[in-house]
Amino acid sequence: MRLAVKKAIFPVAGLGTRFLPATKAQPKEMLPVVDKPLIQYAVEEAYAAGVREMIFVTGRHKRPIEDHFDMTFELELALEQSGKRELLEVVRSIKPDDMECIYVRQAQALGLGHAVLCAQRLVGAEPFAVLLADDLMVGPAGGKPVLAQMVEQFDEWQASILAVQEVPAEHTRRYGIVAGHAVNDRLVDVTQMVEKPAPEQAPSRLGVAGRYILTAGVMREIAAQPRGVGGEIQLTDGIASLLRREKVFAYRYDGKRYDCGSKEGFLEANVELALVHPELGPGFREFLRGLEL
Ligand code: UTP
Repeated sequence: MRLAVKKAIFPVAGLGTRFLPATKAQPKEMLPVVDKPLIQYAVEEAYAAGVREMIFVTGRHKRPIEDHFDMTFELELALEQSGKRELLEVVRSIKPDDMECIYVRQAQALGLGHAVLCAQRLVGAEPFAVLLADDLMVGPAGGKPVLAQMVEQFDEWQASILAVQEVPAEHTRRYGIVAGHAVNDRLVDVTQMVEKPAPEQAPSRLGVAGRYILTAGVMREIAAQPRGVGGEIQLTDGIASLLRREKVFAYRYDGKRYDCGSKEGFLEANVELALVHPELGPGFREFLRGLEL
C-alpha cells in the first residue's frame, strides 16, 4: 500500500528567546509578516500540499494560536452586519471546513524532538510533515510551495524527506547538517546527520530547513534518545538514528527561506513580502525609494 502525507505537526511550544522582548507575552508564531501571522503561512503551506489534519504542539502562553484558528462568532457577525464581505472571507478562510486542528501540550520545552514526540499517538503509523513556522518558506513565483514539492518526492520514494539548502561554512552551528550520496540534482541519499556542528566538524554544508516529512518509525527513535546538544531532546538525533534502519533523503528545495525566529530574517521577510504584496507592494516600493539610505 502506498502511503500519503495527510497530517502535519507544528511544534509551537518553544520559548522564542532570540526574539525577546517581542515574545515575552506572545508566541513568536503569531508575529505578523506583512498582514498574516507566521503560523498561518505554515498552515497554508501544509494545506496546499494536501494535508488536512493540523496538529499543534503548544505550551503556555500559546492560546492566541488556538484562538486564531477558532471561529470568532462576534467578529464574523459584526463584519456581516456591516457588509464587509471581503474581510469576512479573509477571516473565514483561515480555517477551511475540511481542515481539522488538534492541540496537544508540551508541558516543558525539552526540545524539538520531544515536541514532535508529544504528537506520537495522533500520528500513529502514518507518515507526517513537520513545519517550523518561524522558517517562512516562499516557493518559486508561480510554482509549487516547498512542502508540496516535498510531498511529491515522498510520493515517489516512500521515505523520509528533509528540506535542505547550502549554508555558508560559518553558519553550520545554526543547523542540522546532512551528508550523503547525490541521487540527482536535488536529492541526496543521506548517510550522516549532525546537529549544529562547528564548521571544522561539519560533514557538508547542507543545512536542514524547518520542513520535514518523516515516517512513523522516527517516533521510536526519538523516544530512545538521551538529551543532546543544549540539554534538549533533538529531532536531528532521532533522524540520525532512523538512518540506520530506513532510507532518508535530503531535498534541495526550490524557493527561499526566511529565518523569522531571528530579528534580521523577520525584517527581511517583511520587506520582501511587502514588495510583492498585490495591494501594498507598489506604494511600499515608492516609500522605500523615497528613503534616504
Ligand atoms: P527554536 O530552536 O527556534 O527554539 O525551535 P525557540 O525556543 O522557539 O526559539 P529561541 O531559539 O529560544 O529563540 C524551533 C521550533 O521548535 C519549537 C519552537 O516553537 C520552534 O517552532 N520547539 C522548540 C518546541 O515546540 N518545543 C521545544 O521544546 C523546543
